[in-house]
Amino acid sequence: MNAPSVIETVIETRGLAKAFGTNRVLDGIDLTVARGESLVVIGGSGSGKSVLLRTILGLEQIDAGTVRLNGEPATAPVRARFMHDFGMLFQTAALFDSLPVWRNVAFRLLRTMPPAAARARAIDKLARVGLAADVADRMPSALSGGMRKRVGLARALAADPAVLFFDEPTTGLDPQRAAGINALIRGIVTEAGATTVTITHDMGSVRTIADRVAMLDGGRLRWQGPVAAMDTAPDPVLRAFVEGRPAD
Ligand SMILES: Nc1ncnc2c1ncn2[C@@H]1O[C@H](COP(=O)(O)OP(=O)(O)O)[C@@H](O)[C@H]1O
Ligand SMILES: [Mg+2]
Repeated sequence: MNAPSVIETVIETRGLAKAFGTNRVLDGIDLTVARGESLVVIGGSGSGKSVLLRTILGLEQIDAGTVRLNGEPATAPVRARFMHDFGMLFQTAALFDSLPVWRNVAFRLLRTMPPAAARARAIDKLARVGLAADVADRMPSALSGGMRKRVGLARALAADPAVLFFDEPTTGLDPQRAAGINALIRGIVTEAGATTVTITHDMGSVRTIADRVAMLDGGRLRWQGPVAAMDTAPDPVLRAFVEGRPAD
């Protein structure tokens, strides 16, 4: 909190490359995420958005390039420190099916908090994503896809981390729920000062959540800039995506 020197760059990749066999998914990505910023990554299905987040986190080996976290090369101890104050919503929610909802949400809290306090925190976070307290004791298999997504979101938020990644937070939600989740994510940045990276295809999410937008296409960052510049940027691939037209 009162660190003498605040590092302004939370994530920095240079020349990041990742292929699966002959499929060159990331082909030289230079990306910077500043502290307190909300970056939204857009791009077509299969363009490497999820892989980008996974490589930053070290969940995928990279073929080339560098990742720096909080200003330091992402060695194992640097990653461990980063992960300590980090939350993520995976695209598939990735809940533990053998644990009730509240234990999923409180999973990390239970290492350091008494169970009753962790459960109360979980119920509070469930309320923030629009889920009533009675959901806490259900099993994930008894929930709809949209509810599972919201449980995953509550889990990401549980410890109030400084850095959050959201992989398609509104996919599978109805428009009203999606708007609520977009507002929640924006509030986490604006009110709590978190740093967030959000992947989405939903232009409503982009406009609500983003300070800055980066578009992945063909393994490269096709375009990046402030969200306010997105509507006047001439790039034809960006225009097609933003306007929901098929790219030429
Ligand atoms: N573990 C994996 N093994 C092989 N191919 C993968 C793996 N993960 C992702 N891919 C491929 O990488 C590409 C990008 O995937 P992904 O990042 O999930 O796309 P999206 O932009 O939709 O999130 C796709 O062609 C996908 O099939
Ligand atoms: Mg994805």
